Amino acid sequence: MSGKLMKVFITRRIPQEGMKILSAAGVCEVSQWDSDEPVPRAELLKGIQGAHGLLCLLSDKVDAEVLEAAGPNLKVISTLSVGFDHLAIDEIKKRGIRVGYTPDVLTDATAELTVALLLATARRLPEGVEEVKNGGWSSWKPLWLCGYGLSGSTVGIIGLGRIGMAIAQRLMPFGVKRLLYSGRTAKPHAAEVNGEFVPLDTLVSESDFIVVSCSLTPETQGMCDKSFFSKMKPTAVFINTSRGAVVNQEHLYEALSSGQIAAAGLDVTTPEPLPTNHRLLTLKNCVVLPHIGSATYSTRGVMSALAARNLLGGLQGTDMPSELTL
Ligand code: NDP
Ligand code: DGY
Repeated sequence: MSGKLMKVFITRRIPQEGMKILSAAGVCEVSQWDSDEPVPRAELLKGIQGAHGLLCLLSDKVDAEVLEAAGPNLKVISTLSVGFDHLAIDEIKKRGIRVGYTPDVLTDATAELTVALLLATARRLPEGVEEVKNGGWSSWKPLWLCGYGLSGSTVGIIGLGRIGMAIAQRLMPFGVKRLLYSGRTAKPHAAEVNGEFVPLDTLVSESDFIVVSCSLTPETQGMCDKSFFSKMKPTAVFINTSRGAVVNQEHLYEALSSGQIAAAGLDVTTPEPLPTNHRLLTLKNCVVLPHIGSATYSTRGVMSALAARNLLGGLQGTDMPSELTL
């Protein structure tokens, strides 16, 4: 009986929702890197041998070497993420392998976290909490721990996709005056938030808050660099919840430490985890979170279920609920 089951490799412990769906389907034999920590490369290369399906995470680089190690059985790669920059799409496409991902189900959670990070950064919440604990709070002082507010501001969103739009919808009720966005194409749905499609340079120089929510592509890699930061207002706040590699972190450090820009909030960095001795972590005006955009219990459960259903669709040659168009 087990000889007929298709072989699946899962690169991490994932929420039970997905595991239950896979086991109830009865079509696959699962082997798993049963840990909360990433699978070592050697174990990935071993575990995927002969697999028909791979369920992976954004921290697993799936390149030609992994695909070669898998061999010709591999029909489907299901990633527990909406971002797919960790997958070598050209190599995957060449081999006729289908890809499933998890768009939409994490949009609200990620947009919510982005707003939280923006407010925490602009209103200096981590600094304030620290001052309460270390005795720095001596009295109410008129100019102490002042930051920047959203009311009457101009917000610029780079990448008004699913998450970018959900961020805009959440920010507008704070009294934002102008909502600018940039990307490859103007979006009809921008009208709902009075979004103005502008060239990137205009967005950078006119925004009080810049939020990066685009996907990581060869075009966006390193997009936020010295020249980008030099065009920002000195009072502007920079937020990135897309991928760390969109930002040149050395240039960001210079911009933050020289006062060229006011503050930055990052949910994503290069590398992840960011080494604890990284220069960015020495700055009071830089708030760094450990890539927790989609981290609500329910969202992760739904992502897990969707990733399992995508995997099953690929194994069985049927529709996937969320298949990436290659
Ligand atoms: P979408 O595909 O809906 O949106 C991506 C956006 O990126 C599109 O609006 C696209 O605009 C834009 N984009 C692409 N190329 C460029 C460019 N050159 N310049 C500016 N914008 C560009 O994806 P989602 O909104 O669902 O997710 C976006 C990203 O967020 C993911 O790829 C992932 O990296 C990240 N993410 C991070 C999370 C976290 O935990 N921090 C959680 C979830 C996602 P256009 O259509 O005009 O090209
Ligand atoms: C994604 O899905 O791409 C995020 O980075 C994690 O949820």
